[in-house]
Amino acid sequence: MKGIILAGGAGSRLFPLTLVASKQLQPIYDKPMVYYPLTTLIENGIREICLISTPHDLPRFRQLLGDGSRWGVTFDYREQARPAGIAQAFLIADTFIGNSAVTLILGDNVFYGADTFQAAFSGFREGATVFAYHVHDPHRYGVVEFDKNGLAVSIEEKPKHPKSNYAVPGIYIFDNEVVQTARNQKPSARGELEITDTNLSYLHRGKLRVHQLGRGFAWLDAGTSSSLHEASAYVQTIEKRQGIKIGCPEEAAFRRGFLSLEQLRSTTDQIPNCEYRDYLESIIAEAKRLQS
Ligand code: G1P
Repeated sequence: MKGIILAGGAGSRLFPLTLVASKQLQPIYDKPMVYYPLTTLIENGIREICLISTPHDLPRFRQLLGDGSRWGVTFDYREQARPAGIAQAFLIADTFIGNSAVTLILGDNVFYGADTFQAAFSGFREGATVFAYHVHDPHRYGVVEFDKNGLAVSIEEKPKHPKSNYAVPGIYIFDNEVVQTARNQKPSARGELEITDTNLSYLHRGKLRVHQLGRGFAWLDAGTSSSLHEASAYVQTIEKRQGIKIGCPEEAAFRRGFLSLEQLRSTTDQIPNCEYRDYLESIIAEAKRLQS
């Protein structure tokens, strides 16, 4: 399984924050936003990652993320010259995807919670798997409607009159047919290759699975100034209360076995003295204690 992080767009709803740094580089509490989706990919065992952004922002992502070796992953950087829809990612990254299945995650989607994704990832064989999350404002999202047996019957992109409260979050698992599916798509009325149309194509072929995300699961959106602030407040609350970090790729890479303890040590050695480093030191100390 390969992974794509789509971090494009103008970020106009966050103006003037986005005048010099794109939305996905803004902080959510103590880390850049893109660390959160990156951590989600690592937690689910994805090591080969393609990051797509605008020609303007791509150099900054390279500066932030480098070649990925400090997390035991590899990055392939690709440009989205102009925002022409989420599904365009599959065309931009077609040679990266090759013959693999692929997970696409949006660079501004923050997920936190139990093992929901793990079951979906380990159970994935073919077709497409997407998720459904109960929200109070479904008209802002792709909306999935279920029948009485819990089977998905329709998905609509930002409907004026949503048929349910279930939004489709920005993480999608596809088999290799997604590249051809995206090639066959036509731009929508707003001129974009819609991810909802990709999902619909799988739904119509009877190949779409929709996992409902449970109550104890957080999906945060950071696309506006207030939702960015709320996401920061959420992360700070959990981190302070529990003494664990959300969206820490070093920790995820170590727990997933992408980094040995020695590699985590040398990654940590490159970080200046700060709270983030203190946290990694505490993980190293605990791992050493368990080893002895
Ligand atoms: C996009 C998708 C939408 C999805 C959402 C999740 O919308 O088009 O289907 O529910 O991401 O974040 P956007 O946020 O790009 O408007």
